[in-house]
Amino acid sequence: MLSYQHIYHAGNFADVHKHSALCLVLEHLTQKPKPFAYIDTHAGRGFYDLQSSEAQKTDEAKGGIWGVDQDTAPAEVRRYFENIASCNPKGGRRFYPGSPKVALLNSREQDRVILIEKHPQEFQALSENFEREPRAILHRRDALEGLVALVPPDERRGMVLIDPSYEIKSEYADIANAVEKAYHRWPTGMYMIWYPLLPVAGHQRLLKALKQSGITRILISEIALHAPQGLSGMYGSGIALINPPWQLEQGLARLGQWIVNSLSDASERRARVEWLVPEAKKEGDRERNQG
Ligand SMILES: C[S@@+](CC[C@H](N)C(=O)[O-])C[C@H]1O[C@@H](n2cnc3c(N)ncnc32)[C@H](O)[C@@H]1O
Repeated sequence: MLSYQHIYHAGNFADVHKHSALCLVLEHLTQKPKPFAYIDTHAGRGFYDLQSSEAQKTDEAKGGIWGVDQDTAPAEVRRYFENIASCNPKGGRRFYPGSPKVALLNSREQDRVILIEKHPQEFQALSENFEREPRAILHRRDALEGLVALVPPDERRGMVLIDPSYEIKSEYADIANAVEKAYHRWPTGMYMIWYPLLPVAGHQRLLKALKQSGITRILISEIALHAPQGLSGMYGSGIALINPPWQLEQGLARLGQWIVNSLSDASERRARVEWLVPEAKKEGDRERNQG
């Protein structure tokens, strides 16, 4: 049975990394009038009160959205802060948009936002949060089964966010396997896969499998607030992006550096952006990849 609930972690440094990068990708997708589909395989409840008793139990927002300084933020984070402001009309940063809300705020009438969630309580909360939102299409089903079944979307344009809770050890390999299947059905889709940096380094299994899959154009963005300590505890956040928008790496690099500089003074803090599998060399490949 699933036990993870994102309310205990909402607004932490990994959310700042993931959601600000998500805003950048969505910003790119809205530059053309053609409709797109956004598929969120692990949606969670979509909207969070950071002053709820659950969120306060861990207080992770203090080392995340409550700790970052907007005044020093690069232009790449502007949209993300606009999203936070629109969720807090009275000011402050009490209410925090999860990925479904970020997708709804950064898409248009012609776009579809497909949200998959399996946890009964989370699905109920997700339904209540978006019951008045006609563009949100909700599925209570398994993430990876849903991913393979739902691609390619009719729009043939768009992205998938894969943001698991990694409660099960085999998830790293299962995700790579499902992404490979989905990619074969929809090779021009963008896929954004979030993973934690933990001392046990399970994410290496995911990255190795992606690298061996034959998929090209996989960009990695990682931030680490400090060096790994002990046997557990998330010290960093990573994103693997398949078919990223053209020249996204510069924006991701500025965004990552700003997050680590804002939230850590450890000498081992770092932000890196690099290609896990580089750009395809053939002429015309870039055009085929979303354009
Ligand atoms: C990290 S949270 C998602 C947070 C969300 N993407 C966001 O950014 O706001 C992971 C979610 O995946 C859900 N989940 C875990 N295993 C799942 C599965 N096999 N199928 C669908 N949802 C699952 C959990 O219930 C949890 O809500």
